[in-house]
Amino acid sequence: MSNAKTVEFDIGETFGVAEARGMKIEGFEDAGNRFVPKAIEGYVHRRELLSDIVAWLKIGKDEGLLLVGPTGCGKTSGVTQVLARLRWPTQRLAAHRRLEFSDFTGHYTVVDGDMVFVDGPLTSAMRYGQAFVLDELDMLDPGVGASLNTVVEEGVVAIAENGGEVVEAAPGFRFIATANTAGNGDRTGLYQAVLRQNAAFLDRFWVVEVGYPGEDQERSILAERVPDLPGWVREKMIEVARELRGLFIGDTEGPQIELPMSTRTLTRWARLSLSFQGVAKAGKNPLLHALDRAFLNRALPETREAVHGIVERVIGQDVSFD
Ligand SMILES: Nc1ncnc2c1ncn2[C@@H]1O[C@H](COP(=O)(O)OP(=O)(O)O)[C@@H](O)[C@H]1O
Ligand SMILES: [Mg+2]
Repeated sequence: MSNAKTVEFDIGETFGVAEARGMKIEGFEDAGNRFVPKAIEGYVHRRELLSDIVAWLKIGKDEGLLLVGPTGCGKTSGVTQVLARLRWPTQRLAAHRRLEFSDFTGHYTVVDGDMVFVDGPLTSAMRYGQAFVLDELDMLDPGVGASLNTVVEEGVVAIAENGGEVVEAAPGFRFIATANTAGNGDRTGLYQAVLRQNAAFLDRFWVVEVGYPGEDQERSILAERVPDLPGWVREKMIEVARELRGLFIGDTEGPQIELPMSTRTLTRWARLSLSFQGVAKAGKNPLLHALDRAFLNRALPETREAVHGIVERVIGQDVSFD
């Protein structure tokens, strides 16, 4: 399970970013390691986010990387897709309030009648020099976060359950986290179960803010991920998304809406709109039918009605895709 030999990748070619051609970064030879994240065909690497991740991978190994941003904006995939292209084996864990230190480091279990210690994802990542991605870091019990300080900073962990074994990180170990908030608690009310984190723990991270992709980037994402959607529908959907985000933040005039239209939701809306074209025969608007399922069925009834109105104004009532 140890890492394959390192190889240099051309950043421009690997991530499809012309300006970065000629710049290099180390990754790993293809050794069929099952811990390497699966690369998504046509994933759109965002230049700004990519350059932060690349810089950190190169020089930040004694610190963690924390990507902070709203739900579904591309934090987790942004980093795991970079790791995928660099063939960087990766362990993942999603935090929640009841996650304990031993969920990171491992526990005893019975194998063939014997008690054996089984590594947790963090211990594995350290032993074998893999990346460790902790999603939803801000849901973690802050005490557990604080106990990870030496892991992030020094690449060392002591496992009391295993007779105090001290595990040192092999080269290739990296600690990455994602979160909706920067660890100071949720001031929006959108992200329930988020906890205020220990300041000393957060002090050990580079923090990068990730927003929703710009219009051009979202256009490319939709074109790559849902290529069969007609271009004009794509344009209109992006227009609707922009308007909904304006209403959500409160800087567009109109009704207040309580849910953010994420990139995840936008791509889901696009995909569902294609599959629900058949409902047009029953006199229904496939775009609204899809949007209900992708987004609005978890919104307030008045939001749903307001958003239907926006879609009908922007895209029209009579939608056929050909
Ligand atoms: N740059 C991108 N290229 C392609 N798809 C993207 C991109 N950013 C976001 N997406 C889409 O949005 C979904 C949510 O992204 P994800 O990284 O899980 O968001 P987050 O971790 O911020 O909640 C992905 O599964 C993908 O469909
Ligand atoms: Mg995520």
